[in-house]
Amino acid sequence: MDILIPADKIRQRVGELASQVAADYAGRPVTIVGVLTGCLMFLADLVRHLDLPLRIGLIQASSYRGERTTPGDLHIDPALLPDVRGRHILLLDDILDTGRTLAALCEHLRRVGVASLKVGVLLRKVGRQVVPFEPDYCGFEIPDAFVVGYGLDYNDEHRHLPDILILPGPSEDGETRRQGDKETRTQKEK
Ligand code: XMP
Repeated sequence: MDILIPADKIRQRVGELASQVAADYAGRPVTIVGVLTGCLMFLADLVRHLDLPLRIGLIQASSYRGERTTPGDLHIDPALLPDVRGRHILLLDDILDTGRTLAALCEHLRRVGVASLKVGVLLRKVGRQVVPFEPDYCGFEIPDAFVVGYGLDYNDEHRHLPDILILPGPSEDGETRRQGDKETRTQKEK
């Protein structure tokens, strides 16, 4: 697989994002909420730079694609989320693609009644967004390719790889793979 972003560049950029986060929160308590499962490496690396009063929570979002649901239906499972009412939240996700997941998660957290909400993504795919959504922190803008590594998976493989890599395959198959990926993600964490 071709490397899109090598591990040393990821490390450097995550450090820069952490400096921005630390400056913005300036000692205020923050709850970092990671979107399972792709956020795990990003979250673990980011928080270790942060000298702030900090809590960590996790949230799961699953795409449903079955006979009784339409493609893109999103199920949010907050079972692992601590009580975030009245807290300052930084929501972290691996990748901003269409924007549907983060838009829905933000709506969910606002409904719960958080004090403030910011969003950080490691990657943002250029030209893919269908929901207008501006993250507060973004590591890298990337082209429209299916990427794996550093938490990102294809069929639950490759998450452990330290670099971000482009999954090989015919480029015209991108949409098929994305749809297929959603199908394999039915009823399971993303
Ligand atoms: P949306 O479209 O709602 O989706 O912004 C974001 C979620 O889709 C998954 N996704 C990917 N996962 N490589 C992956 O491993 C990719 O290139 C990719 N593009 C989208 C991911 O779960 C993300 O949270």
